[in-house]
Amino acid sequence: MSTAVLHVTGARPNFPKLAPVQAALAERGVAQRIVHTGQHYDDRMSDIFFRELELPRPDVNLGIGSGSHAEQTARTMIALEGAFLEAEPRLILVYGDINSTLAAAVVASKLGIPLGHVEAGLRSFDMTMPEEINRLVTDRLSNVLFATSEDAIGHLEREGVDRDTIHFVGNPMIDTLLKARPRLDPARAKAEHGIEGPYIVGTLHRPSNVDDPDDVAALVRVIHAFADLATFVMPVHPRGRDRLVDAGLTSHPRVIATDPLGYLDFVSLVSGADAVVTDSGGVQEETTILGVPCFTMRPNTERPVTITHGTNQLVTRESVVPAVAAALAAGRPTAWPTPALWDGHAGERIADVVQCQLA
Ligand code: UD1
Ligand code: UDP
Repeated sequence: MSTAVLHVTGARPNFPKLAPVQAALAERGVAQRIVHTGQHYDDRMSDIFFRELELPRPDVNLGIGSGSHAEQTARTMIALEGAFLEAEPRLILVYGDINSTLAAAVVASKLGIPLGHVEAGLRSFDMTMPEEINRLVTDRLSNVLFATSEDAIGHLEREGVDRDTIHFVGNPMIDTLLKARPRLDPARAKAEHGIEGPYIVGTLHRPSNVDDPDDVAALVRVIHAFADLATFVMPVHPRGRDRLVDAGLTSHPRVIATDPLGYLDFVSLVSGADAVVTDSGGVQEETTILGVPCFTMRPNTERPVTITHGTNQLVTRESVVPAVAAALAAGRPTAWPTPALWDGHAGERIADVVQCQLA
């Protein structure tokens, strides 16, 4: 069967976005192929998501692995060119803002293959973030742009993107969350991780937080201050692992550091948490729907809707400890607004648009 849609996927945040789109296209009988670049390769950063999210195994894994931005992106481009030429898809779908997304966008557009970008139009306006560069280039090259929030549409329009190519579809990552919700078990996750009483979940992997040893030392002091307030459980991303451990992450008795967690375990823990401290894009969105106070340790966010219509706030190393203490004292919110179309049906809307493109 010839390939109508080829999905390019590569790293942890891609997989929960891909799952509902793949499922909705499968329901519509569209012939699909999944190419995994191999940007993330540890079981806990990759394969576990395919098992837990009922994603079919990738048709191809290019085994790209780690490297500098140029090395990783260049290797991915070379390998993708062969994969695209072999499959001759009618549409290539890319997700989010990782290096694999950028590489696929450049190769697809040079081969003249129509390109769709899921999660188009997000902007942090911070060009020190590799993801911002990836977003700008990918959107500029895309023929079909799927926006998760209304602010994203405004950014794209201001950049001169034809409004007819932009589709406001909602958030496929939230489709995955809502589908998983009946399987979440916060009490079990808490017991399995040996957590007693109130707890804070932390996930931090941005270069701005974990690359520089001085930043890491300051971050560990802040984490220990959280642990003075409540148990702090941190599934540690491989990017900062060694530096965090060297800086004494686990020397506080109420810090629990684990390997990266599978999706169901992680989201179960987050759903039962009293607060979350993060720099993850996806976690800002998930806490918005779960109603968990979220403290984002970044100077900006490309997801402002999680602040205006969610539970997120931007914090610094200086402001975060009192902010978390206040959240622990106040308890979890009982009512909060949620963003438009984050309703569990984004994958279906994307599939409808894709079907029109293929017709
Ligand atoms: C990448 C994305 C980032 C995303 C994050 C999600 C880019 C530019 N960055 O960052 O936007 O938020 O994924 O998790 O694409 N490593 C392992 N095992 C793995 C994968 C990575 O040990 O399975 C280690 C390697 O030492 C590697 C480092 O993590 O050098 C960074 O991996 P990489 O994919 O380059 O970037 P991330 O920081 O994961
Ligand atoms: N996640 C997970 N296990 C973890 C940490 C995160 O399953 O230990 C999930 C999280 O629920 C979200 C996704 O990974 O769905 C976000 O990926 P990440 O934070 O790596 O990337 P970002 O969203 O910042 O690009």
